[in-house]
Amino acid sequence: MQKRTIVTLPGDGIGRVVLDETLRVLDAVGFKADYVEGDIGWEFWRKEGNPLPQRTIDLLQKHKVALFGAITSKPKDKAATELAPELQGKGYTYFSPIVALRQHFGLDICMRPCKTFKGNPLNFIRRGANNTIEEPLVDTMIFRQNTEGLYGGVEWTNPSDLVYEGLMSHPKFRENFAWCPREELAISTRIFTKKYTSRIVRAAFEYAKENGYKGITVCEKPNVIRETSGMMLKVAQEMAKNEFPGMQVWDTNIDAQMMWLTKNPEDYNVIVAGNMFGDIISDGFAGLIGGLGFACSAQFGEAGVAVFEPTHGSAPKYADFETSIVNPIAMVNSAIMMLEYIGEKEMAKKIENAVAEVIAEGKVKTYDMNKMRGTADVVNQGAASTHQMADAIIAKLK
Ligand code: NAI
Ligand code: MG
Repeated sequence: MQKRTIVTLPGDGIGRVVLDETLRVLDAVGFKADYVEGDIGWEFWRKEGNPLPQRTIDLLQKHKVALFGAITSKPKDKAATELAPELQGKGYTYFSPIVALRQHFGLDICMRPCKTFKGNPLNFIRRGANNTIEEPLVDTMIFRQNTEGLYGGVEWTNPSDLVYEGLMSHPKFRENFAWCPREELAISTRIFTKKYTSRIVRAAFEYAKENGYKGITVCEKPNVIRETSGMMLKVAQEMAKNEFPGMQVWDTNIDAQMMWLTKNPEDYNVIVAGNMFGDIISDGFAGLIGGLGFACSAQFGEAGVAVFEPTHGSAPKYADFETSIVNPIAMVNSAIMMLEYIGEKEMAKKIENAVAEVIAEGKVKTYDMNKMRGTADVVNQGAASTHQMADAIIAKLK
């Protein structure tokens, strides 16, 4: 096996511990890599006024593949007060380094799998006919457009003359919003481009095809958000015709989809959505398979950079526990996605099986799997620590 260089971006809070434990699992499966650590997160904001230093961007540019833990973000004003005294008042403004990373490397394709592990006590159950209890097997891959839409950052409060005039040229704006004083207007745009809409839709089709599914579900709201959601649906329908003959396009609205989530989640295997709806729907599905302790993701772009990360944040309230209690599985699953991406499919499968066995056996469970409140003494009460969970996974690899 060729030795790889992987950039590790532990970030803040529990990011570091879940990443460290995951590296032990990667070691145990025999994955050979040089890990180089990149600086990212709150510490670098405070010390340098930049949570994503250029040296970190350079590292990723060079080595292309990264495992990312989590960062802490705070509102701008709060961030400003926590800057090192010598940096205060010098015009530094806080920005989310992970959003910046996605935009810098154009990581436009985000994949978020939500798949039931048998035996997970957190699995969604529902009542069936005759009061039976059903535990549907969820197996959904969500393709989220990761760089555009409502999270694109093109927004204003009290817009300039130019922007305001542009808005006034729209009859709906004149009709419904012209009454509002300009300084009381807040505007966030929802921009979709055909190029990046096509890329995320194509990625969904390709995945569906490779995995033997009959089609994809576009989860947007084209009946109301006609231009952007409408574009995604149309792109999907045309692409089905021209590039994926025989593949179906189903179309759900985000609001109805949230309701169907608990009615028939097993009916959805491949979903594609814009940035915000993709974010929402992937958290919704994650809730059915155990929540943030299980939710992983992968992000790719045209520049050939790929970043793998759990979807949870830095969980600051658990970060300083002497024994870490959080579930490392979301990060381990993200590493599995990385192994698949770089072609180490056998190792990926081994870890996946090990995780599945640990969960199915049900002997080693972190506090979330025990449905405990996350306090420092959960380990004394029988919950596995982060380290013990990683040990259990490693034991299954042997
Ligand atoms: P969070 O995901 O950090 O935590 C929410 C709750 O989920 C936790 O209190 C805990 O109960 C549970 N949880 C999270 N990860 C878990 C794990 N591995 N095992 C078991 N339980 C887990 O979200 P929150 O509290 O909204 O944000 C905390 C900080 O993280 C904020 O500063 C936020 O900006 C940042 N954040 C960063 C993200 C990233 O780096 N990609 C994503 C989301 C939030
Ligand atoms: Mg989210």
